[in-house]
Amino acid sequence: MVSQLSYPKIQLEARNVQLRYASSQTIACQVGALQVKKGECLVLCGPSGSGKSSFLHLINGLVPEYYQGEIEGSLRIGPLSYQESSVEESAYQVASVFQNPATQFFHQEVLQELVFPCENQGMPREAISNRLAEVVEQCQLTSLLHEDMEKLSGGQKQVVAISTAAMQGTDIMVFDEPTANLDARGVERVQELLRVLKKQGKTLIIAEHRLAYLKEIADSYAYFREGTLIEATSASGFLAYSEEKRQELGLRTSDTAPFQAQVKEMARAFTNDPTGLILRQFRVHHQAKYLYQVNELVLAAGQVVGLIGANGSGKTSFARSLVGLEGDKTGVVSWQGESLPARKRLARIAYVMQDVRQQLITERVEKELRLGLGIDQLDEDVLRAFRLSHLLDRHPMSLSMGEQQRLIIAASLFSNKEIFIFDEPSSGLDREQMEQLAAQLELLKSKGKLVLLISHDDELLARICDKVVDVEKLAMGKEAEG
Ligand SMILES: Nc1ncnc2c1ncn2[C@@H]1O[C@H](COP(=O)(O)OP(=O)(O)OP(=O)(O)O)[C@@H](O)[C@H]1O
Ligand SMILES: [Mg+2]
Repeated sequence: MVSQLSYPKIQLEARNVQLRYASSQTIACQVGALQVKKGECLVLCGPSGSGKSSFLHLINGLVPEYYQGEIEGSLRIGPLSYQESSVEESAYQVASVFQNPATQFFHQEVLQELVFPCENQGMPREAISNRLAEVVEQCQLTSLLHEDMEKLSGGQKQVVAISTAAMQGTDIMVFDEPTANLDARGVERVQELLRVLKKQGKTLIIAEHRLAYLKEIADSYAYFREGTLIEATSASGFLAYSEEKRQELGLRTSDTAPFQAQVKEMARAFTNDPTGLILRQFRVHHQAKYLYQVNELVLAAGQVVGLIGANGSGKTSFARSLVGLEGDKTGVVSWQGESLPARKRLARIAYVMQDVRQQLITERVEKELRLGLGIDQLDEDVLRAFRLSHLLDRHPMSLSMGEQQRLIIAASLFSNKEIFIFDEPSSGLDREQMEQLAAQLELLKSKGKLVLLISHDDELLARICDKVVDVEKLAMGKEAEG
């Protein structure tokens, strides 16, 4: 028998819920009391590893169906209570959108991707096409419908992921850091979609570190720390917090506009250095495809250089070409007067990818940290700074997103290389971790290393960069798509 909620307007109610993952001794998430009303938007915030994603996993049924764990207490979602629902049932109640949309795609064409969940649930054809027409109009998808998923930019992919979730027609939608990899335009697009969904009466539950874009959408905020829901606050109460209080809570700023202006100005004022890392007639590829040429870029050692540009402008391809992972044998690359052909570059350049999970290759955190290590001792300061000391025995795949990111960043710092490339290193980091990262980058700088920082995080860029390069201005001889 399915229990009905006593108060129909409440769509989610947690009472003394606790989750402990099977592989762990500690409670990953506990929520004393929380209610979300129909049509409301609740934002889950708090430091990395504080239990935000774990709470979402309870809501969308990923625990215990996908991640094993022990659950206590009562969680009512729509008309179902926790004990009574399975992942299939949750799929009818809750649609999910994750940080990295690529992990949730199954098809090549946007249209097929959109209708897949409905087909999977055995919905009649006519109902599917009606819902499709509705979602395409609301989410303004007409121009994307027949595109190849692989050709979409990160922002467009996230738009498709959100629209696909909307196609499921559930009342509740959960989002886990949906903007983590997006540029300003991508964030705006997600913001627009969230507005549309809210207007439609959907209940939205969003875990985020970037809070600024949610200011006008959120009705309430739930603040987590060390696995526990500390307080749930109305939007007006939360937005009235002083900057000091935000800092104390470890929350990122809610106003990024001043940083954005500063970064733009730095990119406008960019000029080449006299020597250091020199790229001439350097051709950037994405897989076998030629994208653009950098006629000349010269960056001196001992500084942090930001690399900016919209989603799809070729920042990651630039990084991959520079470390020699994408084929180019013709251009000139040299470092401190020494020529660096493609095959020599990975040995000299530390590279932290945007999706760090691709770089997790061992079964233990400590082993992962020692991979590139010439010396025996792990630097305790770095472990402490990135809150990794207590995680050394864990399997890297069981870490929270922010923990995985910190792990790979720390591993790169242990390598004795001269040039460092970080691709969106702050996407899953909380405020304290962003500050720790900034401090570590300062340290690299003081050791005479060159740091290239690919980022959309204007706060981090403004704070740490000596120079900013706009990839879109650098890209000469860009060929037309196709
Ligand atoms: N599958 C898992 N198995 C074991 N422990 C896990 C698993 N997933 C998360 N944890 C642990 O549970 C705690 C809460 O993690 P969770 O992913 O919920 O944090 P989060 O607030 O979402 O962090 P982030 O901001 O970094 O994404 C962390 O200590 C984490 O290491
Ligand atoms: Mg998370």
